[in-house]
This record gives sequence, structure tokens and C-alpha cells, in this order.
Amino acid sequence: MKNLKVIFSILIFSTLISCSKNNTKRSIQYMSDTDMYRPVPYEAYAANPNFKDGLSSQPPVKGTIARGQVPYDYPNTNEGYDAAKLKYKSPLDSTKINLKKGKNLYGIYCAICHGNKGDGQSILSEREKFNGVPNLKDREITEGSIYHVIMYGRGVMGSHASQLRDEERWQVVHYVQELKNELSK
Ligand code: HEC
Repeated sequence: MKNLKVIFSILIFSTLISCSKNNTKRSIQYMSDTDMYRPVPYEAYAANPNFKDGLSSQPPVKGTIARGQVPYDYPNTNEGYDAAKLKYKSPLDSTKINLKKGKNLYGIYCAICHGNKGDGQSILSEREKFNGVPNLKDREITEGSIYHVIMYGRGVMGSHASQLRDEERWQVVHYVQELKNELSK
């Protein structure tokens, strides 16, 4: 009983002082002058003494890759073409290859020159707007070389790297191989 009285008095006392008016002052703030508490903002294009070149806007760190992008290390040279032809392999196994998707994309981006069958008979070659579109069956192509040509183009054919994402390029590659097989029968 005595104990209970003591506990009660402490409780009431602490309740009273916690409500006293004097307690509205701010307490001590540690590290109050550091940048961690108050960061210094810099405008994107304004001067910034923290970098060697004195600019706020810095290029991405070397080796940075945009989300979803796959680096392609073969250069746009004859050697690069030959190396890709030999070594660059599709990451898609047979369960991921989607010929329907490949056909669709080929129809959008390639058939206008190469023709629906890949034999070079297309509206543009018929009208002699684009000469020299090959019949795919006459070209020695591999999955790596087709990917390389999609990346950089070849001769009068332009690059299609910006139209197609990595996986889409491979879907087109597999469809082109299918067309070549059909043509070679
Ligand atoms: C503007 C017309 C045009 C378009 C569009 C085009 N090509 Fe071509 N393509 C050509 C021509 C012309 C060549 C022959 C280039 C050469 O060998 O000089 C060629 C060559 C090729 C070759 C053979 C390259 C080799 O290694 O011998 C492949 C494979 C190919 N194209 C795939 C594609 C694919 C896939 C697309 C669509 C993503 C495409 N092309 C879109 C005109 C085009």
C-alpha cells in the first residue's frame, strides 16, 4: 500500500513537471552546423566548387548503363563484324524465342526493304528506291552477324539499334534465321 502511494506521487509529480511552461524551449541540437543537417543546394547548371570542373551537372560515372540496356562491345569495323559473326551468341534459349514477335517486328522494320520472305523482293526494291537489297539466302549470316548489322547497319542499310531493345533484336535475329532456312529449302 505504501509502495502504491509512492508510485502514484511520482506519476503525478512527473505529469505536472512535464506540462510546465518552461519546457517549451528547444533542446540541444548536435552537429547543428554540419551539411548533414542543412545541405547546401546547387542549381543544376550553376557553378559548384565541389567538382574539379566547377560544374553542378556531372556526366554519369564511367561504365553506367541505362536501365534495360545491354552493353555491346563489338566495334563498328570489319574486325568487329567478323568477331561478332563468330562469337556473339543469342541469350534466348528455345523456350524464350518468340518467332511470332520476331515476325511482327521484322514486318515493321525490315520487310520494307528485305521483303516479307527475306528474298529482297520488296516495295522499295521494286521501285528501285533501294538497290542491292540481298536475298538473305545468298548471305553467310550467323546470329551474331545479324545482331551486329541490326546494331550498326551495313552499306546503305542504317542502324536499327534505337528502334529495337536488346531482346527484340534477338527475336528479329531468330526470325531472320528462320526466313533464311525457308529460302534455302
Ligand atoms: C532501308 C532498307 C533496309 C532496311 C529497312 C533494312 N535493311 Fe537489311 N540490308 C539492306 C541492304 C541494302 C543490305 C545489303 C548491305 C550490304 O551488304 O552492302 C542489307 C543487308 C542485311 C543483312 C545481311 C548483312 C550481311 O552480313 O551480309 C541482314 C542480316 C539484314 N540486312 C537484316 C536486316 C534486319 C534484321 C532489318 C530490320 C531490323 C533490316 N535489315 C532492315 C537494306 C535494309
